[in-house]
Amino acid sequence: MQLPDFKLERYFARYEFTVEYLLCSSDCESWSIGELLALEPGAEEGLKQHWLGYTESAGAPWLRQEISRIYTGIQPEQVLVCSGAEEAIFLFMHAALQPGDHVLVHWLCYQSLFEVAHSIGCEVTRWEARRENGWALDLDELRRLLRPSTRLIVVNTPHNPTGYLMPADDYRALVRLAGERGQLLFSDEVYRELEYDPADRLPSACDLDPSAVSLGVMSKAYGLAGLRLGWVATQNKAIYERMAALKDYTTICSSAPSEYLAGLALRHRQQLTARNLEIIRGNLALLDDFFDRRADRFEWVRPRAGPIAFPRLLQGEVGQFCHDLVTAAGVLLLPGTTYDHPGNHFRLGFSRRSMPQALTRLDEYLDRNSGKGT
Ligand SMILES: Cc1ncc(COP(=O)(O)O)c(C=O)c1O
Repeated sequence: MQLPDFKLERYFARYEFTVEYLLCSSDCESWSIGELLALEPGAEEGLKQHWLGYTESAGAPWLRQEISRIYTGIQPEQVLVCSGAEEAIFLFMHAALQPGDHVLVHWLCYQSLFEVAHSIGCEVTRWEARRENGWALDLDELRRLLRPSTRLIVVNTPHNPTGYLMPADDYRALVRLAGERGQLLFSDEVYRELEYDPADRLPSACDLDPSAVSLGVMSKAYGLAGLRLGWVATQNKAIYERMAALKDYTTICSSAPSEYLAGLALRHRQQLTARNLEIIRGNLALLDDFFDRRADRFEWVRPRAGPIAFPRLLQGEVGQFCHDLVTAAGVLLLPGTTYDHPGNHFRLGFSRRSMPQALTRLDEYLDRNSGKGT
């Protein structure tokens, strides 16, 4: 298994903890442990009493019960808790795939969603989201790309980095198509519950099809990335058991304090997502105005869900632009080149309370550099 650098993560590693303003974060504004404990009487005492031995490998039963409530047809024993969504992706790909399998991946995408399959020796084909189509996925194109050897289809909606939310009919058709043909569907749903209109929320793939696998995490919609706690939910017993067995070689079990805090947070998840959506909505209003005023410099497809978008830079080269911006103004944007996307885009994140100040900095920087194409 040969894994190349994870470009996006390496880029973040250079700047994330030193830059003044992160304007490209994909996780929502976080919370302190104290704020979480204040959500429930007795929670602080409960944390102090919480046992620090090894935890159950599949996740504490009460936590899996709480996670299963996110879904409509999932039992606690159909939830496998992992260290972040990242471990779940790694375990899933290794559980599901053999060298030579054909995999179709919603592209562009978070790198591990195709890279792990590639490193196993699979043939990975891009199912491409195009800006000209508002980042929509085309099901007819998918049908043309499918092969008898296709083992897996990977989809991520709401999407990183474009914010694309699939129409419900298309999503249901996708799940049906994979199910009917006996192909696995891996549905990365880490931004679910961040739909600007709750009516747009898609059902989870694991609720629609007995073989599909849904990915969830505490990091994104709930803003609790530091817990490093994610999961898969699936009725697919064979995949579940294989993933659970592989986990003995990665992390064995979760961190006990993280399990406690994740359970607490999930009992109040409506409150967490409501606060995060309030930040997002406020920031989106500022961005609407920004992109109106700056139509000569940028073009964007306004998302319908999630904390990120993927605007296009109309003047200059995006890698240079992001570099000059972070150096001169202390504002971090993520160039689309970290996704190997050639279109001169960057990822913009708008789920942080500091976004208005970061946007002002960007505005001032653009004023200072107008006409330079930087
Ligand atoms: C689409 C997607 N899937 C999975 C992950 C991994 O999540 P985590 O860092 O919480 O493990 C990310 C993180 O950015 C993501 O954007």
